[in-house]
Amino acid sequence: MSSVFRSVSDVLVVVDRGQRIEQTGGSFDTVFEAAGTRALGGRVEDLATEASRPEFRAALEQVIQKRDFTTVEIEVDTGQGAAPLELSIAPRLDERGKSVGAVIVGRPVGELRRAYSELEASHRALKEAQGHLVRNEKLASLGRLVAGVAHELNNPISFVYANTHALEKYATRFETYFDAVQSGATRQDLVALRRDLKLDRDLKNLREAINGAKDGAERVRDIVEDLRRLSAEGTSEAVDFDLVTTTRTAADWVVRGTKTPVKVVFCEGAHPIARGNPGHVQQIVMNLVQNAIDALGETENPQVTLHHEIDGAHAVLRVTDNGPGIPETIAGSIFDPFFTTKPVGKGTGLGLSISTKIAQEHGGDLRYEKSAEGGSCFRLNLPKGKDR
Ligand SMILES: Nc1ncnc2c1ncn2[C@@H]1O[C@H](COP(=O)(O)OP(=O)(O)OP(=O)(O)O)[C@@H](O)[C@H]1O
Ligand SMILES: [Mg+2]
Repeated sequence: MSSVFRSVSDVLVVVDRGQRIEQTGGSFDTVFEAAGTRALGGRVEDLATEASRPEFRAALEQVIQKRDFTTVEIEVDTGQGAAPLELSIAPRLDERGKSVGAVIVGRPVGELRRAYSELEASHRALKEAQGHLVRNEKLASLGRLVAGVAHELNNPISFVYANTHALEKYATRFETYFDAVQSGATRQDLVALRRDLKLDRDLKNLREAINGAKDGAERVRDIVEDLRRLSAEGTSEAVDFDLVTTTRTAADWVVRGTKTPVKVVFCEGAHPIARGNPGHVQQIVMNLVQNAIDALGETENPQVTLHHEIDGAHAVLRVTDNGPGIPETIAGSIFDPFFTTKPVGKGTGLGLSISTKIAQEHGGDLRYEKSAEGGSCFRLNLPKGKDR
């Protein structure tokens, strides 16, 4: 029996009816080594810390008197500090079934606890790191977006500028003419001046310049409007929106920000209304179109096709490219966070996993389908909205 007691890794203590130690075993000596050997016959509750003693005593009493099994967690005093032990306490019965004490088996929970808290800490750290990367990914998309915005704003702004410059010239000439009128020039002189200054031509061009400047300003306003919609993150309330318009805006932004000459084709077989957050959906489309463009670097006649359809309860967008496609060996991994085949600094591998998350938050999904032409095809299913 004593060899059994010695070979067990748990702490074993046998006590009599008076809760005094009769025998010890298992890892008892190791656990309580620093506390000095406690004499057999001592009170078992003295093994516990002051605070744990009442609970320990009560548990033992219950076992000894009611002949019940019980489990308690108490802190023992190891001599090197307190350590939590999980105790299973079983009654000891004699041959007539009379209670003669208890057998206590203790298992240290400190180790497990420590492991748990370490696990929890590393989980927290990982989550933080992930949050960080998601933010970085957002910043990267923002960078691409800003490039597109700068390029796009440049056009209408130079348009406005050129037209106001022309208006300035016209204004100077009209001023010269009106000064002549004021100073009482003869009718003949005025006619000559009007011809020399080409005022009739200016008058005709005046309207055009005003309209041109207005057009440019309106274009700037539209761009800002688009951007505002794209960043409308705060309102996550679902709305019915035109999927085609949203897709177009998003695709336009990406194309503007890229140097690769890619043909983007919109197939508008159907005109689905989707339900959700258009700003977030734009983010998915931008990711998909960006991926397609990235894959088209070496392709002749590169083309991205955006196809819309209604399928049952879904508004569907398919983004297809005629690039190299995705090899079978990696197709299973592309939706994993951080999976990327792009060089460092080019891709973080979060585009597809974030897009999937957004699609799922909408009650839809995002899938990869092999394109019939050998390229890639991503299918985005979103819940259908109400037609206006
Ligand atoms: N249209 C596509 N054609 C070929 N491969 C693709 C296509 N779309 C995605 N992939 C593959 O899937 C991988 C993961 O795409 P994902 O958008 O998640 O990350 P990424 O584009 O590499 O980086 P990030 O989007 O964070 O900038 C890509 O690195 C690429 O290998
Ligand atoms: Mg991507």
